[in-house]
Amino acid sequence: MYGDDIASVLITEEQIQAKVGELAELIAKRYPSDAPEGDLLLVGVLKGAIFFMTDLAQALPIPTQMEFMAVSSYGSSTSSSGVVRILKDLDKDIAGRNVLIVEDIIDSGLTLSWLKRNLSSRNPASLEVVTLLRKPDALRTHVDVAHVGFDIPDEFVVGYGLDYAERYRDLPYIGTLDPKVYSS
Ligand code: XMP
Ligand code: MG
Repeated sequence: MYGDDIASVLITEEQIQAKVGELAELIAKRYPSDAPEGDLLLVGVLKGAIFFMTDLAQALPIPTQMEFMAVSSYGSSTSSSGVVRILKDLDKDIAGRNVLIVEDIIDSGLTLSWLKRNLSSRNPASLEVVTLLRKPDALRTHVDVAHVGFDIPDEFVVGYGLDYAERYRDLPYIGTLDPKVYSS
């Protein structure tokens, strides 16, 4: 579909779907379906987490509700500065709720640590994080992530929600880009 832009498939569609099922099972064990805090609230970070968010919600055997947030970090397009701006905030108050942040990828961890601080100031009953992908640098920052799908090498990846210049989000797998895409 994108010619030979994709240099290699890092994680196949089958591997992603199997992992989503495993994560859903682990997550469901932590939240009783009749919790006094109400349904688990999934907070998806736009746009990268969209497919992970919808697949995870459908795989979870407990009732969930969905909210979305869009943030942008100042800095170059391929690295994050830790200075974050809210482009779209949550629609609802999260005080007293069990909240699970659903992330596509953690690289430096700066975006996520800012987001955790921001959301915890709104007094949720609990606040945890699930990320589909994690890069090696994330291990150097001390942001607590309850669930990680795949640890991947420090390469720029696209697909399953992740983009390069807004393209490739619609691929059902995670792949690396051919360098000619950056240089053209
Ligand atoms: P930090 O460094 O704050 O950055 O953890 C997380 C955000 O950076 C973006 N990001 C990527 N996006 N392919 C992408 O399409 C990648 O390989 C990649 N690495 C980082 C992403 O927006 C993520 O939320
Ligand atoms: Mg992006």
